[in-house]
Amino acid sequence: MYLGIDIGTSAVKSVLIDRNQSVIAIASESLKISKRKPLYSEQNPNDWWHASLKTITSIKKSKPFDFCQLKSIGLTGQMHGAVCLDKKGEILYPAILWDDGRSYKECNYLNKHHKDFEQLGGNLVMPGFTAPKLLWLKRNKPDLFNKIDKILLPKDYLRYKLTGEFATDMSDASGTLWLDIRKRKWSETTLSACDLKESNMAKLYEGTECTGYLLPSIQKIFEIKKPIKVIAGASDNAAGALSVGSYSPGQAMISLGTSGVYFSPTSLVATNTKKGLHTFCHAIKQRWHQMGVILSAGSALSWWGNVCERDKETFFNSLSKQYDDKYIPLFLPYLSGERTPCNNPFAKASFIGMTHNTTYIEMVQSVLEGVAFAIADCEDTITETQTKINSVSVIGGGAKSLYWGKIIASVLNRDLSYHHNSSIGPMFGAARLAIYEDNELSLEQVFTQPKIVTVIKPDPKLQQQLDWRRSLYHQSYKNLKEIFKLQ
Ligand code: XUL
Repeated sequence: MYLGIDIGTSAVKSVLIDRNQSVIAIASESLKISKRKPLYSEQNPNDWWHASLKTITSIKKSKPFDFCQLKSIGLTGQMHGAVCLDKKGEILYPAILWDDGRSYKECNYLNKHHKDFEQLGGNLVMPGFTAPKLLWLKRNKPDLFNKIDKILLPKDYLRYKLTGEFATDMSDASGTLWLDIRKRKWSETTLSACDLKESNMAKLYEGTECTGYLLPSIQKIFEIKKPIKVIAGASDNAAGALSVGSYSPGQAMISLGTSGVYFSPTSLVATNTKKGLHTFCHAIKQRWHQMGVILSAGSALSWWGNVCERDKETFFNSLSKQYDDKYIPLFLPYLSGERTPCNNPFAKASFIGMTHNTTYIEMVQSVLEGVAFAIADCEDTITETQTKINSVSVIGGGAKSLYWGKIIASVLNRDLSYHHNSSIGPMFGAARLAIYEDNELSLEQVFTQPKIVTVIKPDPKLQQQLDWRRSLYHQSYKNLKEIFKLQ
């Protein structure tokens, strides 16, 4: 048996699977996010720890016999979060998350004076990435910064609590921007730009390697007798890609989670820094990936649900199967600013063009459409680098809505594949990495494409209509950009 644990943003989710990759049990514990100041987004790493323990306990309770056959654990989680620990391993400050925009000044400084981030790190320095956040801490909380001994990413904090080891994998390490992504090594050059050293970082592993064993104290909590391996794992996006067998060029994935991601695996490093494309290592040796990231996808829908006091399921059920072509407002989904392609922490969300007749449900339609346009912008930043996309699989909570799929397929003018278990993505990918490490199996045998349940085709009439609306969407952002800065 293999356990996959995902430190998500809205919840910690765990899955137990057997060697044949059948799902035995799933558990989830929701998490709170603190947005105590404009541009801030934080969580308490202790909440991840307690939520993780709860999900493991719940899996053990529901399937005690299977749980006792546990062999290893694969970890995954939200990227870029900065967990700062002192010499005793104590948390110094709340984890600064992937959608936190406070470090924009530090980004400007690093992009101007340290071109190595672009050359070695393969990316423009954008707020949300780990490096500028540490420079922010150095400039704004110097006493705290001086106490930092180790900087860990969210899933690697969980690893530290489970095994006592400071370790990470290449896909997640890339998101710090201190990795030389071609050499797959920490870069002393980019680290020193933030006044840090390699000794502040976790040890690097490929996603498929074992990083240590459960501590005896943790074995005791779960009444486990045998040693249990903890595998390096992957960032949530790389693990999500592996959950649908996306590790070869051409096999793209769209993730509709709290964030929205267009992910394309590559066998070389190809960048498009000006458009905010992310170029990172994949969790598999000698593979990389390109990724366009939008900061509000599922979270834009949850936000509108909270405003209307309805949940996402109610929204999905109220929308008709057919996209109806009556007039609806436009929606810019920039609730937390945006990374790809605008790299603008000050961008804001907006509904444009309501009338007396506009209903909340039409505005749900606008939200789905606005997120689809943002995903299409991500695809453009990838295809501009001459990357060819042959197939696209959809994962994440948003994969539950085929109605949303129809809109995205039509905006992109591509078929979208929906797979068995597509909504459990990253934790399933992490458990697959644990299977790969533990068995003499090939990549092709472990990271297969799960059964396709549905293929959504673009609708030509809708596509035409959406093409026009997408041009208005771009125009709206251009016109509102200056106002967002003043707000
Ligand atoms: C990727 C990113 C998000 C987080 C949260 O760059 O910031 O996708 O990983 O899921």
